[in-house]
Amino acid sequence: MAMTQPRTAYVATFLGTFGLLLVGCVFHLVQCQQQQPNIVFILADDYGFHDIGYHGSEIKTPNMDRLAARGVKLENYYVQPICTPTRSQLMSGRYQIHTGLQHLIIRPEMPSCLPLDDITLAQKMKEAGYATHMIGKWHLGFYKKACWPTRRGFDTYFGYLTGSEEYFTHLREKALDFREQEEPARNYSGLYSTQLFTQKAQGILEQHSNQSSDKPLFLYLPFQAVHEPLEVPPHYTQPYAHIKDKNRRQYAGMVACLDEAVGNITRTMDQLGLWKNTVLIFSTDNGGQVYSGGNNWPLRGWKGSLWEGGVHGVGFVSSPLLPAKVQGTITKELIHVSDWYPTLVAGLAGGSLNGSKLDGFNVWDTISNGYPSPRHELLHNIDPLTIVKPANATKVMGSKVFNETIRAAIRSGDWKLITGDPGNGSWIPPPGSGIQAHIPADPPGKMVWLFNITADPNEHQDLSSQRPDIVERLMQRLQCYYEGSLPVFYPGSDPRADPKYHNNTWSNWE
Ligand SMILES: *[C@@H]1O[C@H](CO)[C@@H](O)[C@H](O)[C@H]1NC(C)=O
Ligand SMILES: *[C@@H]1O[C@H](CO)[C@@H](O)[C@H](O)[C@H]1NC(C)=O
Ligand SMILES: *[C@@H]1O[C@H](CO)[C@@H](O)[C@H](O)[C@H]1NC(C)=O
Repeated sequence: MAMTQPRTAYVATFLGTFGLLLVGCVFHLVQCQQQQPNIVFILADDYGFHDIGYHGSEIKTPNMDRLAARGVKLENYYVQPICTPTRSQLMSGRYQIHTGLQHLIIRPEMPSCLPLDDITLAQKMKEAGYATHMIGKWHLGFYKKACWPTRRGFDTYFGYLTGSEEYFTHLREKALDFREQEEPARNYSGLYSTQLFTQKAQGILEQHSNQSSDKPLFLYLPFQAVHEPLEVPPHYTQPYAHIKDKNRRQYAGMVACLDEAVGNITRTMDQLGLWKNTVLIFSTDNGGQVYSGGNNWPLRGWKGSLWEGGVHGVGFVSSPLLPAKVQGTITKELIHVSDWYPTLVAGLAGGSLNGSKLDGFNVWDTISNGYPSPRHELLHNIDPLTIVKPANATKVMGSKVFNETIRAAIRSGDWKLITGDPGNGSWIPPPGSGIQAHIPADPPGKMVWLFNITADPNEHQDLSSQRPDIVERLMQRLQCYYEGSLPVFYPGSDPRADPKYHNNTWSNWE
């Protein structure tokens, strides 16, 4: 652009009105040959709905607030209730019923990973011409090397393969889980992961801007923060000395550090001249864990449940490339974590979705132009391994269509149907707020709930007995998805996973 402006001005002076038309065409052409934007995807871990400044949190997040205030806040945005499921959907664009990962998480001893015939988001970005980098938590399986991020589309990788570990030692159950590319990274002990990942990200950005290569950048940054263990350098908690609840205070410090990390990374991008052509996406992976300092008030339930507190996530998109008309807006259009795959590949990178079987939708026009979301329905999950035992079940609706003892939930337009045991369903206010926790009055053994989420986003009014017609329609949808599901893959622990066989590291054993 810097080159074309003086030249077009020169042409314009010479050719007068006719020339102005010509300039218009040249300019139009320049705009049409749109550059592929850099994409930075920041995924926070167990970050609660109530824990970002702009949702009225007592925890201050000035950097994220500022980015979100200039971008688009996603206020009808959904993730999965726990780690592996959200990450699997982000990386595959597929519901868990289509990857066999419906049940819980991939535990470190489990011979399981995101199925190798699913083409990952990173592979697709690479195919579209991007340099692909990942820093942080994988949690999509590692029992064989073919499952590792370095073999699934990322040019570089720095981080850990399991789901949680200590922030300073990078140990899990006393064994190292930290890698630079595929090699154990033993020399980072004592460095706090949020700061360390930020430095590594800044290194990648610097390297990228120094390279003569004109590849765009895809940087996937799944931070360890703010998952337990609640560890943080003490100075981050100082502004929160007034919070009496120790977990909440520690957690607040961890969030403060995460916010600083986001600020540092975006500042570095700005300084390097990368920001002007960057789209930043920020998302949580699931609802906050109330036992570990997180909070989702006023939503019902928390991490691990199919209530809104488990799945209604914090998310925003920020970019100078967004049209002015959407900068500083919120969207209430339905968007889900599985939508990022087609949105990034087709909507932003201009890549092809050939070979990918997707449950996600390209929502870039929804975010960048305010168009209605192409998504009208969202299968939260069907987990046939989590069932209400017959002794505890009371037939509430008596649907003959779908087995309501199964943990499942589906959203269709305004409506959400939940079946089976959805998990923790209390309303938990932030500690110290003075508000009382509210325990639901559902009879034990209740297995079917229906909510109008648009009218009742906090799930106070169960309408299942008032609207049996909608219950039945959504039961049919669940049954339809159920019939198209892959069998659940949830193997037992493999003793060969024990780090003692791998030089005291978590590593592949096949
Ligand atoms: C750790 O070792 C790697 C590989 O030798 C090196 O690149 C890195 O700078 C070292 N980091 C620290 C903190 O010493
Ligand atoms: C952000 O940058 C400042 C200044 O360089 C540094 O002191 C701080 O540790 C950084 N924070 C993180 C989370 O990287
Ligand atoms: C998609 O098409 C491109 C171009 O023909 C090809 O190079 C690539 O391998 C295809 N990808 C998949 C996953 O089929």
